[in-house]
Parts: sequence; structure tokens; C-alpha cells
Amino acid sequence: MKDASPQTIYLKDYTPFGWTAEEVHLTFVLAPTATRVRSRIRFAPNSDAPKQDFFLHGEQLTPISFAIDGAPVTPEVTDTGLTCAVPEGVFTWEAEVEIAPVENFALEGLYMSNGMYCTQCEAEGFRKITFYPDRPDVMSVFTVRIEGDERVKLSNGNPQGSGEGWAEWHDPWPKPAYLFALVAGDLVNHPGSFTTLSGREVELNLWVRPGDECKCAFGMEALKKSMKWDEEVYGREYDLDIFNIVAVDDFNMGAMENKGLNIFNSSAVLASPETATDANFERIEAIIAHEYFHNWTGNRITCRDWFQLCLKEGLTVFRDAQFTSDMRGEEVKRISDVIDLRGRQFPEDQGPLSHPVRPESFQEINNFYTATVYEKGAEVIGMLKTLVGDEAYAKALDLYFERHDGDAATIEDWLKVFEDATGRDLTQFKRWYSQAGTPHVAVSEAFSDGTYTLTLRQHTPPTPGQPEKAPQVIPVAVGLLSPNGDEVAPTTVLELTEAEQSFTFDGLSAKPVPSILRGFSAPVVLERESSKEERAFLLAHDTDSFNRWEANRDLARECLVAMITEGAAPDTAWLDGLEAVIRDSALDPAYRALMLGTPTQSELAQVLHQRGVTPDPDAIWTATEVLKKTRAERWSKLLPQLAEEAKVTEPYQPDAEQSGKRALGGAVLALTSRLDGGDAARTQFESADNMTLQLSALACLVQAGAGEDALAKFRAQWNGDRLVMDKWFALQVAASGPSETADRAKALTEDPDFDWKNPNRFRAVMGGLAMNHAGFHRIDGAGYRLLADWLIRLDEKNPQTTARMCSAFQTWKRYDETRRGMMQAELEKIAAKPGLSRDVTEMVTRLLS
Ligand code: PHE
Ligand code: ZN
Repeated sequence: MKDASPQTIYLKDYTPFGWTAEEVHLTFVLAPTATRVRSRIRFAPNSDAPKQDFFLHGEQLTPISFAIDGAPVTPEVTDTGLTCAVPEGVFTWEAEVEIAPVENFALEGLYMSNGMYCTQCEAEGFRKITFYPDRPDVMSVFTVRIEGDERVKLSNGNPQGSGEGWAEWHDPWPKPAYLFALVAGDLVNHPGSFTTLSGREVELNLWVRPGDECKCAFGMEALKKSMKWDEEVYGREYDLDIFNIVAVDDFNMGAMENKGLNIFNSSAVLASPETATDANFERIEAIIAHEYFHNWTGNRITCRDWFQLCLKEGLTVFRDAQFTSDMRGEEVKRISDVIDLRGRQFPEDQGPLSHPVRPESFQEINNFYTATVYEKGAEVIGMLKTLVGDEAYAKALDLYFERHDGDAATIEDWLKVFEDATGRDLTQFKRWYSQAGTPHVAVSEAFSDGTYTLTLRQHTPPTPGQPEKAPQVIPVAVGLLSPNGDEVAPTTVLELTEAEQSFTFDGLSAKPVPSILRGFSAPVVLERESSKEERAFLLAHDTDSFNRWEANRDLARECLVAMITEGAAPDTAWLDGLEAVIRDSALDPAYRALMLGTPTQSELAQVLHQRGVTPDPDAIWTATEVLKKTRAERWSKLLPQLAEEAKVTEPYQPDAEQSGKRALGGAVLALTSRLDGGDAARTQFESADNMTLQLSALACLVQAGAGEDALAKFRAQWNGDRLVMDKWFALQVAASGPSETADRAKALTEDPDFDWKNPNRFRAVMGGLAMNHAGFHRIDGAGYRLLADWLIRLDEKNPQTTARMCSAFQTWKRYDETRRGMMQAELEKIAAKPGLSRDVTEMVTRLLS
């Protein structure tokens, strides 16, 4: 049992550890129920630290023995660690503990997945392996010996020797314990190699379970591309002789950047055309890049403490987004990222879980691996780059790597590098790291005597603990178009620093049409009263492809809001404008597919809430359905033409070009299925030779209520493939109608293949439920109850995944009294559960506050 009253930890209380760890030697004698871990650590007093007791973290460890300089000692051991009297100077600490990896369902520390040993130590999992100063500012050189019968035994760094039943690894780069990793099992490898810029040969391996060899080629290529890209764009070379990636089935997150030994959720690395969709391939490429890029931004330069998490995560997300843009096209990547930001980060930032990009307190750090830290953290870096310019950004990054290599750094260090490289004062900019909430920017305009004036006003609504907000530096990229569609002022970045500020443009012959927040230059909500005609004009003419898409999104939003709140009919003028874009075969099919997307139901709920209207999930669902049906009918002649254009005749490739076509084809099929009851989808399902086509067809069939046969067939075909079966589970819940979502989800939890301790499988069903807006919010509360009951059950095994999924309730205060009351009751029910984990306790407390 964890401590009854969780402690809050504050950024302001940071103090360095009293010792440095000069060398760490670990020996693992592996056994599922009784693994022995011996540690030998040389500690030296840290002259920069205040005097303190010698404390080592340690949780769920069975102590066997302790010694200092070879003599046995008896430390005082508690639930959370140990204290011990130690000599004045340098000393050698030795400990032996026992742990039971097979009983570890939290998937943190050393655990087993399908009979294979693996570790997850970020953020604070190393303390479940042995006693240690488990904090990122304690960096050390690790040597690891693994003893066991497993064929493959891996750890960080370079191999140092191996023999019958043992292997040794040495990592020359000092690292914090959260980057430690160990893997042992009967794995097979997909090998590769890479020659670095300076001509060093690096051995690459992708380790998988026997049978998964055929799903490795793409990941390996993605790794090589990432290594090359980081050399070319950031001048960063790899720094060991070997780089290993391991795929595991049971993993709480996407993947982990352990030094030289990345561990991946198998869903984030394994792919073949038959089993993975285009979206899976793109995600895999991005995650491989992300983890690889951490080698510099995270590992070589790490974080001083966990409050600085965005230092590595925001920057690394920003870098992987740049990589994906370069590999697959900038405009599509930017639009997808903004959809994702609005879908995940905005609700977080506008509800009870809102926190700054750099939080100032936490109870459980695992609860802060959030869209705000990651995605808003990346947006903040994007703004910084926009403000200082590309060249200065490159200069600042060079300085960052030069100055801080080997350091455990802070956001202050990061900003200082930009100040020193550019001479710019970033005091106000720093508020992006400390103020939570999404700023709103309101726009008004005036035109006289050839001068156009834009007035921008910023305001950030209060968030928990932050009632008042100071103005932030907001880069607003603006271009002006003349009434005939020519660009009369190219994109310029206005720097909004005051609460209210005006900007003028001279020498115009007529009142221009402004295109504001081009490329989504800041993560804000833009408030602008503008006519439908003006938006239609931007949809037709904007030279900024992001804002052209955004104009369409605005029109879609307005149309749906009018349908929901006034019972209006769909806006046909908008649909005609959109049709012109969709018909334009000069435009990238992927871009046209994005144009065909409509705001999600939860995004509509968010918009309504912002306008002071209580969202009604059923009304939102109905309006969305009516709009889809209207589009299908209106475009019934166009759809077959588009389907033809979207056909791929070459053999399957998961590249941007083919994926774009299939995305367009998928959007068209979804509309077609509204007309033909699923006939075209059935044909596609039967003939598909890749998962993208097979799955999109299956989704259409289920959606049309004609999916039962296809679902059975799909299951029979893919029964042996865990990742594909996750799709089978997820899709049924995601694509079901609102009245049956909860019942479907419930029935699926009774399926013999619902292995609920596997996070991917749990998320497939429960995540699918939470994301089916109208289904989750069914008025009898069945969706809420089902999710809450399962969260209570999972918490006993896996607090981290449970806590993350509590965010399904983060918008609960938006809804009507009935729904609000039921959600509150479910949250209170979770909170009242005896023995609730620290993770979930913190989440429900914040949600209820
Ligand atoms: N550091 C990992 C990443 O973003 C995420 C992670 C966090 C994985 C905690 C596991 C546990 O790349
Ligand atoms: Zn990361």
C-alpha cells in the first residue's frame, strides 16, 4: 500500500543531492519471482549541496544485505527508501535486493511481458529495481552484468563481453537512472547499420518476438532516416557503437528513449502493409525519430528535475514534427498537429487539469506526461523560432548543445541560450512556461485613407491556482489579400505583447481581407467576428494553406453550431465553396482529405461551451450526422470521380503520396456508405490487400450497421495478431452508434480476448468508449459507469495507465446538470475506493476541484 496522504512536491524546493555517484555497477541474476539485484556505487560528497542525511529511494524491494566500504551496515528502510549513516568522504555503497518482475503489472521498474524481461524507469521506476538517488540530476556511468538463460541480454551502452549465461554492458556516457534499461528474452533481431557523418560504423538492431520479423523493415528505415536527419539539420551524431530497439507488447506509453536501448510499445514500431494502416506507419516513423532525437535532447542534455520535463519533451516533439514535415510535407503535418492540439491539449488547458507547460508542483510526476507538456511545449518552441528567426534559432541550438552537453539543465538555461545568441530579452516570453490556460486573441479592424489597422486584444481565462494572467508574447502571423484575391501584404509576424495593441498597414487601395494567425503561429483561440462571405473568400483564395483549411473549418463549425442551436439547415453556400476546393485536382489529395474532415463532436462541445451554450451530445451527434448525409447526397455525382482519383495502382507503399490518396479515398468511402448502405465498403473490404483499405472499409460497414459478418471475418483472419485485434476491439466501440456504444464496450470486456492488463487492449475498448462522444455521454450514464468501474479495477494493477485514462472526465463540468451529476458521482466513487493509488488520487482530486 502506498502512503495514505500523498505529498506535494514543489519546484521552488529544489535542492541538489548531497553526493555524486561516480560509478555504478549492477548485477542482475534473473528469475521471474526472485530476481537478485546487486549494486556497487561509488559516492563522493557534492560540494554544491547543503548538508543532508544520506537518503536513497527504494520501493517494493526486499532487502538482502547492505555494506559500506565492505563492512555490513543496517540502514533504516521505509516504504519509500532508506537512510543510512555514511562516512565523511568518498565511499563504496553495496546493496543486494530481491524483486519479483512477474508480479509487476504496473509496468514500471523491471517487469515481464510475454516471458521477456524488460524495464521502464522514467520517471521514477528505477527505485523499484534497487536503492538509488532516483532523480535526473544524479548522473553516473553504468556497468551492468546480466545473468540468466535467456538467449538475448541487453542493457545500455556498448557490449563489454558475454559468455554462457551472462552478458556485460558498459555505458560511457553519464546518465540519470531513468535512462537505465535492461532486456532479456528469446528475441530475434532485424539488423542494420549506419555510418555517421564522421565515418563511424554503428550497428543497429530491432529486437522482436519470433514471428514478428516481417514487421521490422519500416522501423529500421525510419531509424536510419532519423539518424541522418539529425546530422544534417541539427549537426548531431550518434555516440555509441550500437543502437538497439526492442518491441514489447505490454507498455504504458508509446516508447522510451533509454540510452542506446530504446524500448517501444510494439504498436509504435511493428508494421507491415497487411497489418498496419498508413496512420500507423506515419506514427511509427515519428516515434522512432522522437526517441532517437532524445539521444541529444534528453540524454546528452537531460533535465535537472521533473518540473523541467518540457525541456526534453517539448523540444523533442518539436524536432520530430520538423522531421515529419521534411519527410511528408509541411502543410498536412501542421494541420494534423493543430487538429490534435485542439482535440487533446485545449480541453486539458481549459478544464480542471490545466497546468503550466512547466508545472510548479505535483504529487505524482507520471500524471504530467500530458498534451500540455508535450504538444504545447512544442508550440512554445515553434513560437520562439518564429520570433527569433531560423538563423538565430540554429545559432541558439548550437550554443545549447555546446554549453550544456552533459548537464541536467533547466528552462532558465534553455532561455538563456536564446538570450545570449540573439540579444533578446525573453523575460515576458517565459510566461508561456509558467502561465496555464489557452490565451484568447480578439481581433477588430478599421480602414481609412489607405491605412488598414488591426487591433488585437489578448485575454487568458483563469485556471486552477491562477486567477489572473499577465499578457504574453504572441506571434501573430498575418497576410493581407486584396478583394480580387491577390496578396497585397505577404505574411508578417506581429508581436502582440500588450493586453491590447494596434498594427497598421499603409498604402492600400482598398480595404483588404486579413488572413490572421497563418500557419497557426500561436496556440491560442482566435476570436473574430467575420462574415461568411469573408471566410468563403479565404477558403477560395488564401495563399496560406493552413488558413485556407482553417477558413473551411470555421465555416464548418459555424454551420454545425447553427444546426445545433437554431435547427438551421446545412449551409449550402459553404458546401459549394468546399466542393470547388475538393474538385481542384491540382491540390494534394491528402490536403483535400483534410478539407473533407469535420470538427469532432468534442470540439463542437468545446466551441459551444466557449459561447456559453451547454453542449447537448445527442444534438451534436444528430447535426453531425445530418451534415454528413447532406454532403453525401449533394456530392453523389462527384464521389465516384473522387474515388477514381484516389485509386492507387502501384504496389502498396506507406509514403506520403499514396497515403494521401488513400486518405481521400477513405473520406469518400465514408460519404458513399451514407448512400449505398455499405455496398462499396463491402467490395473494398473483400478485395483489400492492405490494412488501410481493409480497416476503413470495416469502419464504414460497422457505421452503416452492416458490419457483423465483416467483423467475424476480420477476427477469424487476424486472431493471432495482437496489434490487429486491438483495432478490432477499438473500431467496434469507436464506430458504433451512440445508443449502443456502452453496451458494445461492455460486451467486449466480456470477450475472452479482452486481456485487460495489457494497456493497448484496455485502451482499445475504454479509450474507444471515451472518444465516442455521444456514446460516452449517453443520458442514462451507462458509459460513465462502465469506464469508472474499469478504472477502479485497473488501478489495483496499473495506476499509471488508469490515471491517464481518468482524463476522459476532464470536461465533465461543461455538460448539463444530469450528466454533470452522474460524472461527479462516478469520480467520487473512484475517489472513495480504499487503497486508491497516489496517481489516481491526484487525478480525481484535481478533476473534482
Ligand atoms: N519519455 C518517453 C517519450 O516521450 C515517454 C515515456 C514516459 C515513456 C514515461 C514511458 C514512461 O519519449
Ligand atoms: Zn519524449
